[in-house]
Amino acid sequence: MRKISFSPPDITEAEITEVAEALQSGWITTGPRTKLLERRIAAYIETGKNDIDTESDVARWSNRVVCLNSATAAEELNLRILGIGPGDEVIVPAYTYTATASAAIHCGATVVFVDIQKDGDASTHMPEMDYKALEAAINEKTKAIVAVDLAGIIADYETIYGIVERKKELFRAVESDGTPLGDLNHRIQASLGRIAVLSDAAHSLGASRIFRGEKKYCGAIADFTSFSFHAVKNFTTAEGGASTWKPIAGVDDAEIYKFYQLLSLHGQNKDALAKTKLGAWEYDIIGPWYKCNMTDVMAAIGLRQLDRYPKLLERRAEIIAKYDAVCDELGIRHLVHRTADSTSSGHLYLIRIPGIAAEQRNAVIERMAELGVATNVHYKPLPMMTAYKRYGWDIADFQNAYGYYANLISLPLHTLLSDEDIEYVCDSLRKTVKEMNLC
Ligand SMILES: Cc1ncc(COP(=O)(O)O)c(C=O)c1O
Repeated sequence: MRKISFSPPDITEAEITEVAEALQSGWITTGPRTKLLERRIAAYIETGKNDIDTESDVARWSNRVVCLNSATAAEELNLRILGIGPGDEVIVPAYTYTATASAAIHCGATVVFVDIQKDGDASTHMPEMDYKALEAAINEKTKAIVAVDLAGIIADYETIYGIVERKKELFRAVESDGTPLGDLNHRIQASLGRIAVLSDAAHSLGASRIFRGEKKYCGAIADFTSFSFHAVKNFTTAEGGASTWKPIAGVDDAEIYKFYQLLSLHGQNKDALAKTKLGAWEYDIIGPWYKCNMTDVMAAIGLRQLDRYPKLLERRAEIIAKYDAVCDELGIRHLVHRTADSTSSGHLYLIRIPGIAAEQRNAVIERMAELGVATNVHYKPLPMMTAYKRYGWDIADFQNAYGYYANLISLPLHTLLSDEDIEYVCDSLRKTVKEMNLC
């Protein structure tokens, strides 16, 4: 029997050597490696190229990426840069991981869940929001919509932008409170002049989609995007994440970048590197803010992961093609990671076994585990979770999310799987569904 784990990190000697060099360099917290990773990710988002590595080239790329210690921090800072807080509503799909919603709660905003489309999007089957329900949920308090590029498939932002344009007359930009951050919050909201469109892109670095007639990479579509580099993600820095944003008319990227730095480092106007300059000890605290910066040890992993990333995505696509063939043979519904318009980052392989209930789904997961195959469920909808039930949410109001979840299983999808491992997963699935008379 083989032992197939669900999502182990893919770390090579290249990452290990870079981490060792970072440790030996005398600079282990936020510093040159983090700054280089930010520029390289910015270039990757703009061009799909991962090999822009020299200092001189790097200077050509935007400073619209800020590396942080998690996607959750990135989601929260995206909302804080926008000035979203108490009295504001943030619309989130009911079908996502808690961080999409909890980041808004951390800011004091009210989360409004929206159900997904029945069985997900018609072409990719990704559990996208029901856009009619989304439009109906908007009111004068709505300040942001957070779409989720679940499994690495980019959501339909053209439709979301269409909705926020139609609802423009309900939107009022936050007033400045006279502080530098409050003033920036006001100018960003006033420049957008509508509800902000945010992307929870925890799964989707490197995904692309035709947007307004042009191929765009994830990070260049929503107004603000958050990525996760957590250990189970396609691209990892152990823990980690990043924020990025699209240019905002009349607001300087450098100013936005500076405020992300301040928000992520205690509101301190000099980072540790700047304070090491001879005699430059003195700093000020601009606001009593947060601590969620990326370290250079983490960035070292990321720099070498980025070198390898296109190959890692190719391997994921190969595995997906093999799984697709078996699911099609067995009549099992699965995500469609590649369409004429969209290429996903292939983060998760979600299958749905027709007609089964949650108990049978759990029995399939147990049988696969007995066969040595780790599977998972992405996700149990948030209105089913204790914390969100306490806010008064009830899964009975999210029938499509429940239906999507009840028969869903996530198969192992990662780049340490050999061809033999993939065959083994496929055989185990065939065997399980036949034994249980499910297909
Ligand atoms: C959809 C989604 N959003 C946000 C997060 C949070 O990521 P992080 O652990 O980097 O904060 C995750 C993590 O799994 C996720 O799946």
